[in-house]
Amino acid sequence: MYKSLDTRCVQCGYEPKNGEPRVQPIIQSTTFAYDTPEEMGDLFDLKKAGYFYTRLGNPTLGGLEDKISALEGGVGALATASGMSATTLAILNVCSAGDNFISLSTIYGGTYNLFNVTLRKLGIDCRFVNNHTPAEEIEALIDGKTRAIFLETIANPAGTVADFDKFAAIARKYGILLICDNTIATPCLSRPFEFGVNVVVHASTKYIDGHATSVGGIIVDGGNFVFKDNPRYPGFNVPDDSYHGMVFADCGAGAYILRARVIGMRDFGAQMAPFNAFLTMLGAETLHLRMPRHSDNALALAQAMKSHPAVEWVKYAGLEGDEDHERALKYLDGGRAAGMVSFGIRGGRKAASEFQKSLKLFRIVTHIADARSCVLHPASTTHRQLSDADLEAAGVPANLIRLSVGIEGIEDILSDVIGALDATLK
Ligand SMILES: Cc1ncc(COP(=O)(O)O)c(C=O)c1O
Repeated sequence: MYKSLDTRCVQCGYEPKNGEPRVQPIIQSTTFAYDTPEEMGDLFDLKKAGYFYTRLGNPTLGGLEDKISALEGGVGALATASGMSATTLAILNVCSAGDNFISLSTIYGGTYNLFNVTLRKLGIDCRFVNNHTPAEEIEALIDGKTRAIFLETIANPAGTVADFDKFAAIARKYGILLICDNTIATPCLSRPFEFGVNVVVHASTKYIDGHATSVGGIIVDGGNFVFKDNPRYPGFNVPDDSYHGMVFADCGAGAYILRARVIGMRDFGAQMAPFNAFLTMLGAETLHLRMPRHSDNALALAQAMKSHPAVEWVKYAGLEGDEDHERALKYLDGGRAAGMVSFGIRGGRKAASEFQKSLKLFRIVTHIADARSCVLHPASTTHRQLSDADLEAAGVPANLIRLSVGIEGIEDILSDVIGALDATLK
């Protein structure tokens, strides 16, 4: 394994043999042919490694999985159709009806809805906490059916940084799996396995692809959690009738991702398309160049906006004095906090609308985290069904604007945003 993360971004995941294509080919085939039924049988029994059906595995997906696993420092990964399917499969790999898990409430809105509404309908109870919830209160929420704790490294859109030390200590004390959504930080700014996390999920849709071409997700197994004889995980310790009586805990490191693939992906079928895996892998090759640039541009913009008369407040963990700055220094590469900056505009909804109309470089999109700068006003788009009071309660006030700062030249970024802020004062 290469020591440098930069080298891993460029090189890992695919190594051609003599005379093979230099670039990971797109294997656009649902299925794979064998000479004998015995060979195919051995693949089904996991006696041999190989491909037989793209829902369970495909060489192009395998290249991406190996690259992201190498970047995170994991033992294996599973590519999925979207970030949402990665999180869903990650939770369902350890939870069934009657079980519960703990999650930060400052997480991506789609994930919050999955946990707060949809999983509840399936009988899985999510207990929400935040960075400031005292450890004793979190521990009081844990019972014999608690199967996981879920964090988001940098929360979208809250911009908070997860308190890894606190949650990892609790997870260790109770033998509970710690799962983290590392989408916004990416492995180039933070590697949660180094802070006690056991499973990482990604919306590769965001920075990993980085060019807004491909919706996708990845689950990475840190291989650092012992399922064997842990009573919280019957799904890993009781012979699985649906998979030849297999006891997954006996597989050691990598048991989690193996089960996610042969049970979760087999049954839910949320696999990534090979073409998306190809594009995502191409994007990942420059992740190490893009993330520092996103972060540096975002910090320069956040600093410039802070003193602007049209700005009420700026939330960016990279800013000195920010509530999350200490955690950013501790858990993110040199305090680099990626490209997402939120701010409150003076003048409410009217000013928010004028600001967005005046922007030229920043386009209005329901997306973040690609090379191009973009903007979103949640109160008039993604959260438009909520009243101002509900918005406040959800931590997304009506005057909040989310900027996703791209990798363009900082002079153009500053002139676009500061010019549009000036326009709201006229
Ligand atoms: C932090 C985070 N996690 C998960 C998701 C969901 O990803 P996808 O849109 O690929 O399903 C998103 C999407 O914005 C996100 O920002």
